[in-house]
Amino acid sequence: MATKKTYILGIESSCDDTSAAVICDGEVLSNIVANQEIHAKYGGVVPELASRAHQQHIVPVVQQAIEQAGITKEDLHAISFTKGPGLMGSLLVGTSFAKSLALGLDIPLIDVNHMQAHILAHFIKEKDTAFPPFPFVCLTISGGHTQIVKVSNHFKFEVLGETIDDAVGEAFDKSAKILGLPYPGGPLVDKYAQLGNPKKFSFTKPKVGDLDFSFSGLKTAILYFIQKQVKENSNFIEENLVDICASIQHTIVEILMIKLKNAVKQTGIKHIAIAGGVSANSEIRKRLQLAEKHFGWSTYIPKFEYTTDNAAMIAITGYLKFLNNTYSDISVTAQARLKVTE
Ligand code: KG4
Ligand code: ZN
Repeated sequence: MATKKTYILGIESSCDDTSAAVICDGEVLSNIVANQEIHAKYGGVVPELASRAHQQHIVPVVQQAIEQAGITKEDLHAISFTKGPGLMGSLLVGTSFAKSLALGLDIPLIDVNHMQAHILAHFIKEKDTAFPPFPFVCLTISGGHTQIVKVSNHFKFEVLGETIDDAVGEAFDKSAKILGLPYPGGPLVDKYAQLGNPKKFSFTKPKVGDLDFSFSGLKTAILYFIQKQVKENSNFIEENLVDICASIQHTIVEILMIKLKNAVKQTGIKHIAIAGGVSANSEIRKRLQLAEKHFGWSTYIPKFEYTTDNAAMIAITGYLKFLNNTYSDISVTAQARLKVTE
């Protein structure tokens, strides 16, 4: 007799991407992401516009995710959604939609911590990829967070270090803004960096605790450097764009690698994962692959589509909680501030 399959819907709406995904026994059947172009002209996410766009996108995105999975909503076993952290208005759209759907279908509701989900995306079943063994160390690098987390099991997280000011994604995006690139600039810095010389310009690295980060000084150093150069040559940015991007990216990735080496030294754990939007960055991915050879680490790099915000990571976390019988009460509320340990 064939065993019954478990279908979980995931809904993500914490920032400016509306996403829905269906997972069946840990495998992704669909993962639809609607990006919001509207924010580019403002140079950053406008919360009011984000929540309005989520309201417009959520029904068609969920419908498409269910259709593409080849199921009907009646086949679903649970609805998982992002409870936080994120923008309150954005979170509320996903939370209230998930609650209504779970109530309507009379199936369990499962709240998911967005930061845990970035990490647990590593447990999506894929051909030819192994899950990280416990305990492992995860460097979570996104637009809002930069943390080194010790992961002891699917539900036990310990923050070993984190940023004391800006997140690494902000360092990329703010540097890009200084260079006149549109929001979010991280992927563009990465694209241009691949054509440039990473040693052309050097920026000093911050001095903070062994496992902590600080990026606001670097951003200011880049700003002053560019202002000074542009004063001498108004075409400085155009003439040096690829080298500036390569040098900024090199400095940031170098900082991340130093911190990871410190974490390995302190914990003795050599299973290293990366997660979050900035883990899409080509240089950090390359450097981690090299670390397997040079330092004997086993490294875990998420598939590109599970790096930036997506609902597949919410659905896999929902699935793991479902297997653990961890459900939410209908009175659950969105939480703009939520630690990875909560
Ligand atoms: O995880 P994410 O999608 O959203 C948050 O939860 O914050 O991360 C978005 C961040 C943005 O700062 C974006 O510029 C950055 O990830 N990012 C990148 C790359 N792709 C996305 N940064 C550097 N290189 C990339 N290839
Ligand atoms: Zn995120």
